[in-house]
Amino acid sequence: MSPAEQINLILQTAHPAAYRALSSFGRQIYLPKGVPLQAAQAANARWNATIGQCTDDQGEAMPLAMMAERISDVDPKEAFLYTPQGGRKDLRAAWREHILSEADSKEEAQETLLSLPVTCAGLTHGLSVAAELFIDKDTEVFLPTPRWGNYDLIFGIRAQGKIHSYNFMLPSSQGMQLNIVDLIAQIKGAIAEGAKKIFLVLNFPNNPTGYNPTLKEADELVAALSGLFEGPEEPTEKPMITILLDEAYHGMEWEDDCCRQSLFFRLSKLDREHFLICKVDGATKEMFFFGGRIGFLSFATSSAASEVLEEKAIACIRSSISALSSIGQALLYEALCAEDLLEQQEKNRTVVRERYQVLKRELSQTKLSYWPFNSAFFAVVNVAGDPEEVRHRLLERGVGVVSIPSAGALRISYSTVPADMLPEMVQILEDTIINGS
Ligand SMILES: Cc1ncc(COP(=O)(O)O)c(C=O)c1O
Repeated sequence: MSPAEQINLILQTAHPAAYRALSSFGRQIYLPKGVPLQAAQAANARWNATIGQCTDDQGEAMPLAMMAERISDVDPKEAFLYTPQGGRKDLRAAWREHILSEADSKEEAQETLLSLPVTCAGLTHGLSVAAELFIDKDTEVFLPTPRWGNYDLIFGIRAQGKIHSYNFMLPSSQGMQLNIVDLIAQIKGAIAEGAKKIFLVLNFPNNPTGYNPTLKEADELVAALSGLFEGPEEPTEKPMITILLDEAYHGMEWEDDCCRQSLFFRLSKLDREHFLICKVDGATKEMFFFGGRIGFLSFATSSAASEVLEEKAIACIRSSISALSSIGQALLYEALCAEDLLEQQEKNRTVVRERYQVLKRELSQTKLSYWPFNSAFFAVVNVAGDPEEVRHRLLERGVGVVSIPSAGALRISYSTVPADMLPEMVQILEDTIINGS
């Protein structure tokens, strides 16, 4: 039996639906017991002549002096030598704790199925690895619309999935609302048409809308997903549903009625006979570490199944970028261990929250029509006519925004604009969009 077949067999027993969810590539990939493993086994050998990196006669790193001087506070070993495949074990364990610290109780933390997060080179990389593992040409991939543009590259052009766009929000009697009905109807439609594999991307808080579900919406969404296979038209052959939760903006929920706990906790309780839940999160926004390029990919499954999925994810990384930046991991690990991490995060979040509040107040005093927003860094403002054309006119007046042609709207990223500059910016938006001046 080949090494891939061996781990596939473990997965087939431990979480059959997760095995079914794998793409053809995902089934083939495994981590050979190559140099990294042999080097780890030889870590304490007297003559460790395994790995292609350089150490001095004391086994310490041999950085170039000018580089070491610039980061003299960091142990050179932590910055200049390789870290294990899949990332530092201590960092992965610390991130796991970081996720579980949001559980409502100790019992919930213990009961939540959560693999050891696999470290990736940023969240985009985590999304890409998940796409490689679970998407084939005939996988029905459900993406929110409007969406972060990179999703089309990752899940469409790169992974070649069959893309379905579900409306993230729709008008209702209460204004625009999270659109659970359309999402569920579309997935049910795909099931009725005999879909074999479904891959659903949920992005909360959402880019570009800046919306995060309320507690009520979060419960409704998970209940609706859980009921996908119920009802009179229950399909005989049930497809497998992989849910990929992209939580890039987690922690940036500005209103009290937002569901602040990661949706992963609710999703991980879905029936494992039909669902596999994956979570992508990381330091980029949550820790304001945009240049650090550290993200994580985790799975909600038993430890036996987790080990296989982690190995496959690590093999994807091994075969594309091999090891990850060590210094990014070192800095993040230090942050996660710091006693004042929450205060430091809160200090930065307060700055962004204030900008959110100012923008919300200012927009409410205009005639502009905009989508509900309560989280992340964004607000979406509707325009009549071509958003690209409006964007260019705004640019001439010194306001840079992003156009969303599919929604006839503009995305305003308030996270980079000082609070005291927002009122004037909103005035220009109103003048340009409403008054056409
Ligand atoms: C929704 C969403 N997911 C993922 C990412 C990617 O994050 P990273 O920079 O860590 O790759 C972004 C970045 O803008 C994003 O908006």
